[in-house]
This record gives sequence, C-alpha cells and structure tokens, in this order.
Amino acid sequence: MQRVEVWVAPLDGPPAANAGLSPAEWARAKRYRFPDDARRFTAARSWLRRVLGAELGVAPADVAFADGPGKPRLRDEAGVRFNLSYTEDVALIAVADREVGVDVEHLGRGLRILDAASVACTPEEIATLHQLPPDPRAEEFLRLWTAKEAVLKATGQGLTVPPDRVRVGARRAGAATPVVILGDASPPRWWVRELRPAPGYVGAVAAEGGDWDIHLRIVTAADL
Ligand SMILES: CC(C)(COP(=O)(O)OP(=O)(O)OC[C@H]1O[C@@H](n2cnc3c(N)ncnc32)[C@H](O)[C@@H]1OP(=O)(O)O)[C@@H](O)C(=O)NCCC(=O)NCCS
Repeated sequence: MQRVEVWVAPLDGPPAANAGLSPAEWARAKRYRFPDDARRFTAARSWLRRVLGAELGVAPADVAFADGPGKPRLRDEAGVRFNLSYTEDVALIAVADREVGVDVEHLGRGLRILDAASVACTPEEIATLHQLPPDPRAEEFLRLWTAKEAVLKATGQGLTVPPDRVRVGARRAGAATPVVILGDASPPRWWVRELRPAPGYVGAVAAEGGDWDIHLRIVTAADL
C-alpha cells in the first residue's frame, strides 16, 4: 500500500511563514482585492514551497513550478505530484508518486444546499440529500462536493467539467471509494478518501488506483 502524504497547514499564523515566494507570486498577491485573500494565498503558497522543498531537498525559494495554465506542476516532476487546496484557516497539500487532487471546505460555509446540489450532484445523490435533516445534509453535501472537486483537481480539469458528472459511490469510513466519471467509458481510474483535517472542516483526496492510504501530517512553522 502506497502513501499519499497530506499536510495540514494553518493559514492564521504570523506572516513570517511567507518564505520563498517568487516575484510573480508576490505580484499575484498584490492583485487580490481583499487583504484576507492575499494573506491566505501567500501563506498557502509558502507552505506549499516548504513542503515541496523538504520533499525535494531544496530551499523553498528554489522549488520551480512549470509555466503555463491548468494544474500546477513541478518543472521537473521527477515522480513527485502534488495538489493544494485552502479555505478559511486551513490549507491541505497532498504529495504523491501519482496524480493526486485535494479539496477542503469549511462546514460553516453558508450555502443553499439543495440549490447547490441541484447543479453539483447526480439524481441519486440529490435523492439521498433530500432524506437528511438540515445539518447532516449540509455536511453530506460538502463530503460529496470535496470528493468531486478532489477528483476533478486530480484530473487537472477542475470545474471545467460539471461536478454532477462525477458520481461518488457508496462510501465506507476509512476506505478508498472508486469514482465514476459519467460519459467516460474507460475503467475507473480515480479513488477518493475523505478526511477531517481540523474541527469544522471536511476534505477529500483523490488519486490514481485504489492501493494507497492517507498519511496525515499536521504541520507548524517549526516542522519545516
Ligand atoms: C482548480 C479549481 C477547482 C480550484 O477551486 P477552488 O475551490 O477555488 O480552490 P482550492 O483552494 O480548492 O484550490 C486552489 C488551488 O488548486 C490548484 N489548481 C489550480 N488549477 C488547477 C487545476 N486545473 N487542477 C488542479 N489543481 C489546480 C492551485 O494550486 C490553486 O491554488 P492557487 O489558486 O493559490 O494557485 C478551480 O479554480 C477550477 O476549476 N479551475 C479550472 C477552470 C478555470 O480555469 N476556470 C476559470 C476560473 S476564473
């Protein structure tokens, strides 16, 4: 069984965490309209550089990303794949030897669940959500949503593919679940696992094949 490393990093720490960003990353940070968004971006990008730097044995500033649009990749992949997601005070960074996608959401997010589900979920998923009372329904929706988004980030397509085309099968706690992309006749390629990175947050990791497990690592500034 291979491991997918999933680092849980805080975004609410002091700005000293912002090490190693490139001029282009600082320029992007300046373009955010809201200071909180700029702060989250710089902290998440800094943690990403620290984690990948530790993985590759280089300084955070020397982590080189490939140019171009779409899924971020290392310039020299050398067998290392990664993906990043962040919201509120939490970032998740997944590092693996295979294509990987990750997503995290805050449970306190104000959403009109059934409206959101009507565009993001399959008819079977919507029927299941209808049977639940409001609080468990919101949580179940975010579990489905993070699973779908993790898969679409693993493929690199992101939300260019409607999430209602991603069917998350019956899940068993702690087990990897194969995911079907509707309209794609090829054998299942992606498996997804749920995780609870911090109180009040739900997350999911998707990766190729079913023979992997999550190794969850909670980081602080002193760790890297
Ligand atoms: C990728 C995407 C799903 C991110 O969703 P999100 O919930 O807003 O953000 P998350 O925190 O989960 O993930 C953001 C990170 O995903 C990564 N990412 C960006 N594009 C990605 C892609 N195509 N596939 C996988 N990961 C991607 C980046 O590291 C990004 O961090 P950054 O914004 O600091 O550079 C969404 O932006 C998307 O679908 N993009 C592709 C389609 C597109 O380009 N639409 C135009 C948007 S204006």
